[in-house]
Amino acid sequence: AKIKEVDFVKSSSRVKECPKDGRPEFAMLGRSNVGKSSLINFLVRKKEVALTSKKPGKTQLINHFLVNESWYIVDLPGYGFANAPESAQMDWSSFTKGYFLNRETLVSVLLLIDASVPPKKIDLDCANWLGRNNIPITFVFTKCDKMKGGKKGNRPDENIREFQEVIRETYKQHPPWIMTSSVTGLGRDELLLHMSQLRNF
Ligand code: GTP
Ligand code: MG
Repeated sequence: AKIKEVDFVKSSSRVKECPKDGRPEFAMLGRSNVGKSSLINFLVRKKEVALTSKKPGKTQLINHFLVNESWYIVDLPGYGFANAPESAQMDWSSFTKGYFLNRETLVSVLLLIDASVPPKKIDLDCANWLGRNNIPITFVFTKCDKMKGGKKGNRPDENIREFQEVIRETYKQHPPWIMTSSVTGLGRDELLLHMSQLRNF
């Protein structure tokens, strides 16, 4: 399940432009600052692989990265930018929803959720939308090392439990979920194994 090489392939502005070779892909999604870039670097263990997310308001792109010449990691524009103009957020939804609904080779969305803060409405809305539309999803909770101190809102276990309770209304079966930390390495092997199992179905 190891990642040996990652190559940037292309940026697409719509599903029609995405690679057509039929290889399976995983799309990474999450709020700005959730730890997307860190997670990628942590999976790949290479600092040079920069999956840069786009700034709000700029052209929004679907970025394909080919892993081990056999499957894709797709970097999508983040959502919930604090300073994004309303119009940029609107664009995000129609653009990204089109991708989710029409991309046949999508194996699973990896929805990144910051476990160090209590559940945010925008993440719950996103999880519920994907669930209602039967898009396969894996919850990847990030920043799970931020446990200590016992400060309110800084308890990943509780934050995760709370998140799962809310989405239970949408999901009959709870989707797979993995706790990660790019600081301690928690969840790395589990996530790589999970992705390799899904690819072989
Ligand atoms: P944008 O590209 O700006 O949307 O952010 P991003 O989602 O790529 O997040 P990024 O990986 O840049 O991480 C944001 C901040 O969170 C950085 O300061 C990281 O060091 C920190 N961070 C990311 N992952 C972890 C983690 O697992 N644990 C801790 N403690 N901090 C983390
Ligand atoms: Mg980033």
